[in-house]
Amino acid sequence: MANAFDLIVLGGGPAGYNAAERAAHGGMKVLLFEERALGGVCLNEGCIPTKTLLYSAKILDYTKHGAAYGVTIGASSIDHAKVIDRKNKVVKTLVSGVGSKMKGAGVTVVTASAKLTGRTPDGITVEANGESYTAANVLLCTGSEAIVPPIPGLREAVASGLAVTNREILDRRELPKKLCIIGGGVIGLEIASYYNSVGGDVTVVEMLTKIAGPTDADISSLLQKTYEKRGVKFLLGTKVCGVEEDKPGHGYVLCEKDGKADKVEADMILVSTGRRPRTKDIGLETLGVLMDRASVITDDCGRTSVPGLWAAGDVNGKIMLAHTAYREGEVAVNNMLGKKDRVDYRSIPSVIYTNPEVASVGESVESAAKAGIKASAHTVSLRYSGRYIAENEGGDGFVKIVIDDEHRTLLGVHMIGTYASEIIYGAAAMVAREMRVEDVQKLVFPHPSVCEVLREGMFMI
Ligand code: NAI
Repeated sequence: MANAFDLIVLGGGPAGYNAAERAAHGGMKVLLFEERALGGVCLNEGCIPTKTLLYSAKILDYTKHGAAYGVTIGASSIDHAKVIDRKNKVVKTLVSGVGSKMKGAGVTVVTASAKLTGRTPDGITVEANGESYTAANVLLCTGSEAIVPPIPGLREAVASGLAVTNREILDRRELPKKLCIIGGGVIGLEIASYYNSVGGDVTVVEMLTKIAGPTDADISSLLQKTYEKRGVKFLLGTKVCGVEEDKPGHGYVLCEKDGKADKVEADMILVSTGRRPRTKDIGLETLGVLMDRASVITDDCGRTSVPGLWAAGDVNGKIMLAHTAYREGEVAVNNMLGKKDRVDYRSIPSVIYTNPEVASVGESVESAAKAGIKASAHTVSLRYSGRYIAENEGGDGFVKIVIDDEHRTLLGVHMIGTYASEIIYGAAAMVAREMRVEDVQKLVFPHPSVCEVLREGMFMI
């Protein structure tokens, strides 16, 4: 049968394209549906575009602060439109790279929106462009979408273009003078970092009393102070109760804190209040899949409640990060191929690409306590690293090491400072391997490096 496959993948983001490639290499006949562009949110409107923008901002910051390092540069400025052009070039290169990978692996890619339609004796059926397809295994990798909360006036502001999500903001070629960000989580902070560096007046409105969600409170606090010094305003513990657009492209975010009203002027509003799995209109009801609100419930192998139906990436609502998606996709494929594999959710690192960077993996003292483990946290300044001091005038980054008091195993690492995004994978490996303090002491780290502080910290515990 022409339309019969071993695996049909819905969605060509990190979970989908990685799984498709692995499955094809494993000998499966694979069909992948993607309605927009290969690479998904991560490549087209998330991880990669933001990192491209943030790198331009970093170069600008270096030029502005060079004097502290004995380097004086003439007036520096940023051409935001050129930054966007470069971002588009980077995205195009990577998207076409994913396309080549699919081709190289022999995956059939169809640009269309696909829907589950039911089951026949041959497998699960999927429909796209009026055609029906069948496969023994279907992997859902439909990702997530930005939540636009039902705040009065907000949806109208999104429709008029005054308010944007992560998708639209990355294509705006003009710089806002006054940017109001609703939500001080990962997206809000990375975007705040860019627009602050390039000279925008940025206000972050966050309903919780701290920024950066579940990030360690001391790290959130240092990050907040650092950005406050650079001019970002944070309205914490503040509820957004409305958006008013008084003229095209200009308006106010109406807020309330402890019963007191306030308003923030804006010529651009970013809505970064979280994301929800994309599970609507994909025919899940035809198979009766078990759901937890918008998330498809899966086990650690990616199995849903329906035999032959698997899910990986943001659609399962577990840990909405691209690298989790990669791993979940390949774990699902390994299990389809009869190889036992599971995702170790305890050791997934997370990063906020602000400047300084924030990265963490594993447990905090509080989360360990909830799991019945007596743990303690040990904070070590990054100033123990010669390289950190050489490269960070006035830097006050630190790493917090969380250990199991009874077994002296490493449970978590949380850090703020240069290279945190690159260092954290080493810490994740240590957490995954349940290394003890004494094991890490015996590892040799490169010198001089910032990661050495992790080893140094082990001798202070
Ligand atoms: P988030 O969940 O990180 O943060 C949303 C924030 O908005 C929360 O702090 C919440 O308290 C606040 N909020 C919600 N409703 C609000 C309201 N009405 N008024 C004021 N504050 C409100 O979600 P975000 O930043 O949208 O990111 C979405 C997802 O994308 C996350 O799962 C994140 O992990 C992922 N992501 C990861 C990145 C990375 O790994 N570096 C980068 C960007 C996104």
